[in-house]
Amino acid sequence: MSEGFIRDTLSQADTEFDVSLRPIRFEDYIGQVKVKERLALFVEAAKGRNDVLDHVLLSGPPGLGKTTLAHILAQAMEVNLKVTSGPVIDKPGDLAGLLTNMERGDILFIDEIHRMQRAVEEYLYSAMEDFVIDIMIDQGPNARSVRLNLQPFTLIGATTRSGLLTAPLRSRFGLTNRLDYYDANDLQQIILRSSRILNVDISEDGAHEIGRRARGTPRIANNLLRWVRDYAQVRAGNKIDAEVADQALSMLDIDADGLDEMDKRILDTIITKFSGGPVGLNSLAVSVGEEAGTIEEVYEPYLIQEGYLKRTAQGRVVTERSYEKFGLKPNAAQRELL
Ligand code: ADE
Repeated sequence: MSEGFIRDTLSQADTEFDVSLRPIRFEDYIGQVKVKERLALFVEAAKGRNDVLDHVLLSGPPGLGKTTLAHILAQAMEVNLKVTSGPVIDKPGDLAGLLTNMERGDILFIDEIHRMQRAVEEYLYSAMEDFVIDIMIDQGPNARSVRLNLQPFTLIGATTRSGLLTAPLRSRFGLTNRLDYYDANDLQQIILRSSRILNVDISEDGAHEIGRRARGTPRIANNLLRWVRDYAQVRAGNKIDAEVADQALSMLDIDADGLDEMDKRILDTIITKFSGGPVGLNSLAVSVGEEAGTIEEVYEPYLIQEGYLKRTAQGRVVTERSYEKFGLKPNAAQRELL
């Protein structure tokens, strides 16, 4: 069983688990200090004016808490939250249906907003800007446009790929925030908090060990915590310390640097099959047997931030740290690329 398994297969079963661990107030949300501060101020200002919160765009890798922040914003504004996702809204009528049912100040959260169809996106412009939506009814000679007035609402868009957002859409958000990977100390605090909620007996250093190996991502940290809890129940008398955490994570093939099997396969493939790079994303994807989009959105950002990988105009190239990790030395040609 690999971390990939934990991430993919358990994600459905984890939904409930996730929800119970999700903080619902700014005070309980750990890390992302600047983002939190800006959003709290944004809320305070809007509430002080009795105004509707302006549209907010949240970007960053998956699992860092974009949905959680949307819930916290709705709670703080004391409004309803409706959650949907870009690819799910497949025609303008769906969007009109969602928007016409909203009350003043309600929040519509659209996850993966960069994957919304262009035809739908264009309807969103007038909805965001003027709170109206013009929809076409009937076809042929009877076709006509009907204007629907909407209650002022807040759109919270979330994206793992802010670069893919069109300029007109991006410019309609009043505030844009990028979430970054969490450091090990923040993740340790998140794990300690989750452990309290789940009644798990864990030491500070046990929580740190899990936090350090969770790829900077709370969702992964919470999933790993559940795995380590199971391990401790069966093999370690229900108590988690650093050693137990290490044994449990090693059993998932998550190494001491927190890289999982796919991370290592990506780096190893670039070194051994592509001579250190540069290699194009699609060739890499075929070689490691993973979707190009998943490599680009899930694996690469962390490998880049940790200094294992670089993106260049010619393609992906490993760094010296990758060679060191595998106990290898780059040859002369490979050294040129570093
Ligand atoms: N669970 C998931 N993300 C969290 C965060 N940032 N703070 C506290 N608990 C969390």
